[in-house]
Amino acid sequence: MSIISNDINKAVEILNKNDVVAIPTETVYGLAGNIYSENALRKIFEVKQRPLFNPLIVHLHSIEQLNEIVSEFPPKAKLLAEAFWPGSITLVLKKKPTIPDLITAGKATVAVRIPNHPVTLKLLKQLAFPLAAPSANPFNCISPTQAAHVENYFKSSLPLILEGGACKNGLESSIVGFENNEPILYRLGAIPIEEIENVVGKINVKNENESTPDAPGMLGKHYSPKTKMYLVNNWKEFSIDFKDKNVGLISFSETINNSAIKHTEILSKSKNLKEAASKLYNSLHQLDHLNLDMIIAIKLPNIGLGKTINDRLERAAK
Ligand code: TXA
Ligand code: MG
Repeated sequence: MSIISNDINKAVEILNKNDVVAIPTETVYGLAGNIYSENALRKIFEVKQRPLFNPLIVHLHSIEQLNEIVSEFPPKAKLLAEAFWPGSITLVLKKKPTIPDLITAGKATVAVRIPNHPVTLKLLKQLAFPLAAPSANPFNCISPTQAAHVENYFKSSLPLILEGGACKNGLESSIVGFENNEPILYRLGAIPIEEIENVVGKINVKNENESTPDAPGMLGKHYSPKTKMYLVNNWKEFSIDFKDKNVGLISFSETINNSAIKHTEILSKSKNLKEAASKLYNSLHQLDHLNLDMIIAIKLPNIGLGKTINDRLERAAK
């Protein structure tokens, strides 16, 4: 029997019993539990096989709830919250002492956001606590943008997946932290960096090559299909012997004429980056189920959401 359901009351019941449910958001599906329940938090890490050093995002229904979670709210964080919440930006702020170490991996900061999805906002309003939720995929695997993706991963280990349709944005939230009250981008995400800069001015991007990244979402290899994947600037630069090979292709809008290509996922015929973003992970999931010898992705234009898409393709291809 499917564990996908529209029953918000049932989700409330399960969460009140310290268990976890998968929830829809406008970015990707999350694996959610009560931030104050050690049992729920441990189950999240266990189900995802996620190392405990990788902290979780706290999901709220309103900005008023922020008082319960953070001890400082720098002016530029406020500007970003006003501009983008509910929505796809996560702010990393100084935490209140009441926030469990399991959420923050022992750090002095906590990541928070208000998601923009009617089902999950309704759920959050019916709960007496915020929800900790990482993306609902096993560690390092492709993020889920549909309830069915979550079901494929976790059929036997989850009591319920709340149905919320296909995620509109389809890429994880942009993560912004603060040093001396100045914003720093920890993870490229569903809000283009240019839009963030329109609100707070030029923003530095955290050097992702540090050995202990502030946001482990910036770990080198991540978001990966099981099939071997290659990322190229354009088709012509790729020279490999395709003899007897079955190849899957991901491209922005072009098709390539080559008999080795057994399946092509076009991200946006009309070259719309927002549409491409919303389709990216589903395309990876689809190709990964076809038993291909390899997946080749062609880079998108490196502007706006194209930067985030290329970032994810690079990590998937590592
Ligand atoms: O769109 C999203 O952000 C989705 C949905 C479900 O909200 N969630 C998500 O969670 O992508 P996750 O756990 O897959 O990625 C959260 C990222 C991780 O890279 C984690 O290291 C970073 O947020 N993070 C969490 N707390 C942090 C903190 N205190 N300082 C720095 N990075 C933090
Ligand atoms: Mg994730």
